[in-house]
Amino acid sequence: MNSTPLRVLITAGPTHERIDAVRYLANRSSGRMGEALADAACEAGAEVTLLLGPTGRDPGARWRNAIRFESSEDLFRMLADAMPGHDCLIMAAAVADFRPATDHPGKIRRGDSRLTLELLPTEDLLASAAARRRPDQFIVGFALEDPQELEHSARSKLDRKKCDAIVANELSAMGSPTVTGCIYLADGRRESPPRAGPLPKDEFARWVMAVLLPMAATRRSAAEGR
Ligand code: CTP
Repeated sequence: MNSTPLRVLITAGPTHERIDAVRYLANRSSGRMGEALADAACEAGAEVTLLLGPTGRDPGARWRNAIRFESSEDLFRMLADAMPGHDCLIMAAAVADFRPATDHPGKIRRGDSRLTLELLPTEDLLASAAARRRPDQFIVGFALEDPQELEHSARSKLDRKKCDAIVANELSAMGSPTVTGCIYLADGRRESPPRAGPLPKDEFARWVMAVLLPMAATRRSAAEGR
């Protein structure tokens, strides 16, 4: 088995999609799950690059390689640059599904008539990274759903986005310090945390890394042995 540290690329936080010079479309992601994953991967001995959205908190010096993004388009470019140098991608970022069709220069002024925003679908960054991956790279997505839709949605994302694993969380995780979730794997298996019920995000993140990093290492070694 290759003993050089795994190079893990983690995305975290929301995207901001510009409407005009002062407004944007965003979502409620705090980025804490992705930051906890980055901490857990570092603790496990991986070399971590964190692509961090506009969370309003300073990541400080905790991660040598933390790079900020604003929009889904920024993140698309950063992923294209960073993917070749990594063994594993973990897409915890809450990427917007739609962006305003035009980025209005200056500020849209108040008027008396109705204002309609036209939205265009964004690129699916996870699907696009998975489509371009090398055989040694391990790709992980996230799903945030109502509990009754979690399994169906996670399995359909695995299939649609062609990734190796989906970390499925219940919607209640958004903005909360705890998370209830499990991992669905492309081979059909499901992994659940050893302790049932909501877990603090750092504990959940350590468990996620304990499951996924050995799989990523095996993938890398298998590709090298070919
Ligand atoms: N994702 C992505 N690019 C997007 C939207 C989502 O890479 N434009 C990634 C997220 O980072 C996450 C996974 O896809 O890892 C699932 O995101 P989610 O928003 O739950 O899925 P959607 O593709 O938006 O599918 P749906 O709207 O049907 O739930």
